[in-house]
Amino acid sequence: MSIGDLVRALPKCELHVHIEGTLEPDLMFSLAERNGMSLPFQTVDEARAAYRFTDLQSFLDIYYRGASVLQTAEDFYELMTAYLDRAAADGVRHAEIFFDPQTHTGRGIGFKLFMDGFRDAIADAGRRTGISADLIMCFLRHLSGEEALATLADAEAHLEGVVAVGLDSSETGNPPELFEEAYARARSLGLRAVAHAGEEGPPGYVWSALEVLGAERIDHGVRSLEDEVLVSRLVEERVPLTVCPLSNLALRVVDTLEDHPLPTMMERGLLVSVNSDDPAYFGGYVGDNYRRIHESLGVDEAGLVALARNSILSSFLAESRKNDLIDELARSERDQGELA
Ligand code: ADE
Ligand code: ZN
Repeated sequence: MSIGDLVRALPKCELHVHIEGTLEPDLMFSLAERNGMSLPFQTVDEARAAYRFTDLQSFLDIYYRGASVLQTAEDFYELMTAYLDRAAADGVRHAEIFFDPQTHTGRGIGFKLFMDGFRDAIADAGRRTGISADLIMCFLRHLSGEEALATLADAEAHLEGVVAVGLDSSETGNPPELFEEAYARARSLGLRAVAHAGEEGPPGYVWSALEVLGAERIDHGVRSLEDEVLVSRLVEERVPLTVCPLSNLALRVVDTLEDHPLPTMMERGLLVSVNSDDPAYFGGYVGDNYRRIHESLGVDEAGLVALARNSILSSFLAESRKNDLIDELARSERDQGELA
């Protein structure tokens, strides 16, 4: 069995993917045309050539510009459908998907419009492929804590299908503490809490995501390794870290994939999963991330199975569904053993 077949056969969850980061250039062009908008690129190839980033901010500037072509509920439906079909083909059984409401409300597009598009696409994809998905509403950390609170107030009538809040965008200089009130309010509404921390920002931001925001899962968290006390805490409390190797390579968090700390994180006993982040911009969906860590980091078959298992355990699924997926993973391991 090829590594591609093996990866596809592993039942897995994807826990760190921004829906706006799944906007492939061809869909971006067709939506721009349909909506009578211009883009800073003339062709799909020109767009792809512009996807060479020096850091997180250089990516975010292009990513927010790209998202502006999303105008109608149908656009959001097509975006979500395209992602879910790709994810299902990669063996993803369940996805917890970030969306950035302020990127859209800031352009005058209301919650109902994009939530209708997302929810219809999730329901239809579930019927078509069996995949399930929940949404994670992110606050943009380059905007203020007050704006996050106002966004949450706007969201309150539209929270069906939203399992958690998250924190994304420009990390350096925008610490978690600024969003303490918004997170407290979200948790009081019954939402779970995750946060991007330790991607470009220091380990101190991981501490404050845990202690100030009450984050139950850390997105990226690769810089946690710089703080031994933090690593011990994350291991002891089994705090999941959603790691995105191809993203870290594209945004120069690491110089080469061979330098990625994922194997060290696994050896240290951290509950890490592998995810795609913004696959249309970083050159690979979740299956590509599994394949590339096998090729470049030597993560063997047992390691890939362990990562798929971690992704299930790290999700916000009910225990009964987690157990079903763990059983399915064990069956797929047995089938592969028989084929080998
Ligand atoms: N928004 C989309 N992708 C992101 C990332 N990798 N880090 C922070 N914010 C993001
Ligand atoms: Zn992210």
